[in-house]
Formats: sequence, C-alpha cells, structure tokens
Amino acid sequence: MAYVEFKEVCKYYRLGENRICAADHLNFGVEQGEFCVIAGPSGAGKTTLLNMLGGMDSCDDGEIYLDRREVSAFNESRLTEYRRYDVGFVFQFYNLIQNLTALENVELASEICRTPRDPRETLEAVGLAERMNNFPAQLSGGEQQRVAIARALAKNPKILLCDEPTGALDYNTGKLILKLLWESCRETGKTIIVITHNQAIGRMADRIIQVKNGRIVSAESNPFPLGVDKIEW
Ligand SMILES: Nc1ncnc2c1ncn2[C@@H]1O[C@H](COP(=O)(O)OP(=O)(O)O)[C@@H](O)[C@H]1O
Ligand SMILES: [Mg+2]
Repeated sequence: MAYVEFKEVCKYYRLGENRICAADHLNFGVEQGEFCVIAGPSGAGKTTLLNMLGGMDSCDDGEIYLDRREVSAFNESRLTEYRRYDVGFVFQFYNLIQNLTALENVELASEICRTPRDPRETLEAVGLAERMNNFPAQLSGGEQQRVAIARALAKNPKILLCDEPTGALDYNTGKLILKLLWESCRETGKTIIVITHNQAIGRMADRIIQVKNGRIVSAESNPFPLGVDKIEW
C-alpha cells in the first residue's frame, strides 16, 4: 500500500434537486516523500479530494489511507487529532491571523503539536529571518505565503496539503513559492501534495495526477522532475 492511498473514493453534493458527483471512484497512490501535483480545471474536484485527505470533509464511499491508517474510518475526535498532528495545510489566501505577528502565527501552530519544530528556525528556513515581528498586513503576498508554509512545517506533520498555493501570487513570486515547497520536500522528506489548475506545474513533480469531472484522468510518476525555473507558462 502506498503512503497515501485512495480506493474507489466517491463524494456527492446535493444542489437542490441535483446530485453532483465531485469524486467519482478515485483510485491513486502517492509514495512517502514525494512531491505530488494534482492538476485539473476549475470544478474538477481538486479541493474536494484534498479536503477529504486532510480530514476536513468526509467521503461517501471508498477508503482513504495515510501511513496505513484509514482516515475515512476515523470518528470525529480522531479526525480532530489527525488534522492537528498529522496534516499541514497551505491555502490560496494564506489564512494567517491578522493581529498576530509572523512569529506568533507560527508559534500558535507549534503549541498545539506533539513534536513541533522551532518556530524561529522554521521562519529562517523559509527566508523570513528579518520579518518575524511583522504583522501579515506588513508583508507582501509571497511573504505571507512563506509564513503560512512555515506555520504548516512547524507542526512537523506527516503530509503537507497545498490548495492552489500560488493562486493569489504573481508569476515570479508563485515560482519562488513552488521552489520553496519543492526544497522543503527534499530537505524534510515530507510528502507534499500541491493542487493547481496550471498543468505546467506538473512537470516539477515526482508524481502528476490529472483530474477532470471528478475523475482521475491519469496518474503518472515522473522520474525526471524539472526545476521550476525551467518551466514556463
Ligand atoms: N459544498 C458544496 N456543495 C455543493 N457543491 C459543491 C460543494 N463543494 C464543491 N462542490 C461542487 O463539486 C465540484 C468540485 O468542486 P471542487 O472540489 O471545489 O473543484 P476544484 O477545486 O477542482 O475547483 C464542483 O462542481 C463544485 O461546484
Ligand atoms: Mg479548488
């Protein structure tokens, strides 16, 4: 069994009279330590997939495993633990707490964990040694996303889940954030999943999963990932 494993996972949403199938028998695996990109157009079911893996949404059918544990069978209290200790999240709009400094945002996350990394060292590792005492509003979008990545890494989670992490950033800043995520993957050995509507980003991944209309179109491992500076879009 792979480190992340989806087996026949289905998710339906009701929309008035209609039933939307946001996940239609998803099957795929991701190995430990891989940098995985899940790509597909808007509405393909990417966020649904990531939220189910992160324990923020439940599936209606099938099984989801992380590190041989069946996440889809967890009860509410086990799910709370799982989200707290095992999963780091990075979102498109950073979701930082505005009245806490960069350092305090990271400290807050590390305080609720069993084996946190040092918040200062984590911020230094993402290039923010000089900005620790700034509030989010005093930081650029790229810097705020670095804080969010530091906050996720400080939890020392099993997996990092990133939902359109460059969606709110300009081209060059987005590339720097992807580079940081890729380096974090290699340096920490953490499994990182990035979802994006940008197909080109897949070329930097160890594994590329294409989704469309709630289905997996292809899932391929990529033995020769390109450096992000070699990818143009
Ligand atoms: N809470 C919800 N209620 C109803 N429909 C939803 C909900 N969340 C997502 N959907 C629908 O499920 C499909 C997949 O959405 P989503 O996972 O957000 O796609 P993506 O992240 O790839 O853009 C879309 O058709 C979307 O409208
Ligand atoms: Mg989405």
